[in-house]
Amino acid sequence: MVYKVGIITASDKGYAGTRKDLSGPAIEEAVARSKVFQVEKKVILPDEKDLLSDHMRKMADEDHLDLILTTGGTGFSKRDVTPEATLAVMERRCPGIPEAMRSISFQITPRAMLSRAEAGIRGETLIINLPGSPKAIRETLEYILPSIEHGLDILKGNSSECAR
Ligand code: MTE
Repeated sequence: MVYKVGIITASDKGYAGTRKDLSGPAIEEAVARSKVFQVEKKVILPDEKDLLSDHMRKMADEDHLDLILTTGGTGFSKRDVTPEATLAVMERRCPGIPEAMRSISFQITPRAMLSRAEAGIRGETLIINLPGSPKAIRETLEYILPSIEHGLDILKGNSSECAR
């Protein structure tokens, strides 16, 4: 089973072209190491809540992507609205995923507490907020991906068996 992935980079500067987006490619790199996930769509957007929500809805409802990974906009800056955009479109929250990311990140930096990342399910699509830096992506994504695969198997009805 190959799961289709969409990547949304939320970054005013990345969108304006004044900063090179290194976070989207960092996600692509981590995802490429797994045979299970395939990146189908990627987009760089400004930190605008409605725009971010619209793209998440489109990737879930029209493109039927299985997993949407966002990067950026989870911090405390006034322009950081990715969690709010995600909450606006999700139907069921998955708090364990950001908990796991923060837990592994606390071993690296106490500043992990500053990520307001959310994760949730819309229909048959899982949406996960990752922090904005390529470093933070490398530190968290590899850790969560195997469990994400299992979660998607259950969401899609490809597995109902949690026993190992
Ligand atoms: N998580 C990991 N693993 N490594 C990091 O360096 N940086 C933190 C946090 N999570 C960090 C991390 C910092 S400094 C911030 S401000 C928040 O993520 C939010 O980042 P964002 O606004 O770029 O999404």
